[in-house]
Amino acid sequence: MKNTQRQVIIAGNWKMHKTTRQATALVEEIQSAADGEKNLPEIVLIPPFTALVAVEKCLRKSAIKLGAQNMDWHDEGAFTGEISPLMLTDLNVQYVLVGHSERRQYFGETNTTTPLRIKAALTHGIKPILCVGEMIDEREAGLTDAVVSRQVGAALGELNSEQFFHVSIAYEPVWAIGTGNHCAAAEANRVCGMIRKTVAALLARLEDSTGNGEPFNANRLPILYGGSVKGSNIAEYVKQEHIDGALVGGASLISEEFLAIIQAAQERVKRAAKATPSNTPTAHR
Ligand code: PGA
Repeated sequence: MKNTQRQVIIAGNWKMHKTTRQATALVEEIQSAADGEKNLPEIVLIPPFTALVAVEKCLRKSAIKLGAQNMDWHDEGAFTGEISPLMLTDLNVQYVLVGHSERRQYFGETNTTTPLRIKAALTHGIKPILCVGEMIDEREAGLTDAVVSRQVGAALGELNSEQFFHVSIAYEPVWAIGTGNHCAAAEANRVCGMIRKTVAALLARLEDSTGNGEPFNANRLPILYGGSVKGSNIAEYVKQEHIDGALVGGASLISEEFLAIIQAAQERVKRAAKATPSNTPTAHR
């Protein structure tokens, strides 16, 4: 894989939905339609903690990956109600959301705690999907880029080049989440491009300390859009230069919707493969 080629990712964040039985039924529907398809994006299902065991069991022979919605940064300890990276790797969890806006709004997540989770995830071989995005009043005050780049810098500013190979970012404007008021694709692309530049600047600071391997290039960072993505609007997003997939909430709970989103993402995968015939599906490992 070239150092500028990017993985396409479609992640379904189920939030606080689905009992074990409902989760199993949904996974089976998604899996039976997706497994064996060509040009699939990386598909990540992110059920609530209580359904991880059941979903993991369903996915054992599947290319679909398993993610968690949050994670504490300690390995273990007196932290009632929390889940550790060790507990997640024990269940073959490969991805974790970090800094989702609902965690920031309701559960005390801050720019101080996101880097702790990111580092702990990477230490344990879990790929973090860092969620960033501005509130409506911040957008109206013209602060979108400042807020988002601060969130990115705080969470990723202390990583080394090698660690960036395992990170992706989801740009999720808070006002677009769960509202049906999705962000115009061109504007989402603009912010995702700004995020890419922010990461490039972080990497530039590291230039002298990259060790032996090929240094990470910000052009290969997968950046997803999230916020009221549906089967009917995904095509616009995956056409954009800087948008490499989607983090999907509500629409990931309905198999037909989620499958329509996956199908649109297959077009981007196909285009990328055509553009770079030497493509080998080893990104992000
Ligand atoms: P939504 O949620 O697709 O329901 O807007 C997205 C998210 O919160 O990740």
